[in-house]
Amino acid sequence: MDRLNGKVAVVIGATSGIGKATAALFAKEGAKVIFTGRREEVGKKVEKEIIAQGGQVEFFKCDATVEEECKALVDYVVEKYGRIDVLHNNAGILIDADFLGIDLVKNFDRTINTNLRSQISVMQLVLPVMLKQKSGSVINTASVGGIITMPNNIPYSVSKAAIIHMTRTLAKTYAKEGIRFNSVCPGLTYSEMVEPGNDFDKAVLPGVPMGRGAQPEEIANGVLFLASMNLHISLVKH
Ligand SMILES: NC(=O)c1ccc[n+]([C@@H]2O[C@H](COP(=O)([O-])OP(=O)(O)OC[C@H]3O[C@@H](n4cnc5c(N)ncnc54)[C@H](OP(=O)(O)O)[C@@H]3O)[C@@H](O)[C@H]2O)c1
Repeated sequence: MDRLNGKVAVVIGATSGIGKATAALFAKEGAKVIFTGRREEVGKKVEKEIIAQGGQVEFFKCDATVEEECKALVDYVVEKYGRIDVLHNNAGILIDADFLGIDLVKNFDRTINTNLRSQISVMQLVLPVMLKQKSGSVINTASVGGIITMPNNIPYSVSKAAIIHMTRTLAKTYAKEGIRFNSVCPGLTYSEMVEPGNDFDKAVLPGVPMGRGAQPEEIANGVLFLASMNLHISLVKH
């Protein structure tokens, strides 16, 4: 408890799965959480659930691929809360296709826009806020699919490999400014994207050493660790 006491955290893509679990955990740890997604009804339901658990949380409807909507989100948070301590960039989609079947617009462009480009545009809006504060932690959701090779799903794997490299580059670039960048690379995790027993699960599960998929809450714990390390760093400095 209290690992994010008083911190302001923005979670992009949190109406279900890993993002939802992270928003709930951040709130449980004392953060003021603003989370997003495109589905308003679902977002409002999640908001209610987290408030019922005692969290301070707000849903903000925002398509992460639409820059004006992301700008409206960041303006809203800064106006209302005055700062952003943690950003979890988590919006993602997976559209199955073998290489020859990749539709460049409906699959490749859409996947890159949602998984990668949205992270860039949101960070471009949030980073100036963090630079002014001289502190902040950004956690970008990548995937084990961005590290190891698996058959097919090239748009997805490429987007996630790019996130890993981009995040490392940003970590190096802004290290001296007090802003930390990390990516998390979940393995098979059960969510709306991957349901137990679906084709993706059947294809990937045999290669998972533990023999089971993760629950979103397990990934959220890793995200919390990376978000809350700000506190440790300030302790080290003193
Ligand atoms: N499940 C896995 O095995 C696994 C493994 C490695 C990495 N990941 C990554 O983990 C992240 C979360 O996935 P998940 O497994 O939790 O799946 P999920 O339950 O389908 O969650 C995806 C979230 O992304 C949001 N989203 C998608 N497009 C968006 C957009 N344009 N703007 C704003 N939000 C958007 C969705 O909200 P709305 O639909 O309301 O917009 C939803 O909240 C993704 O980046 C995924 O690639 C998942």
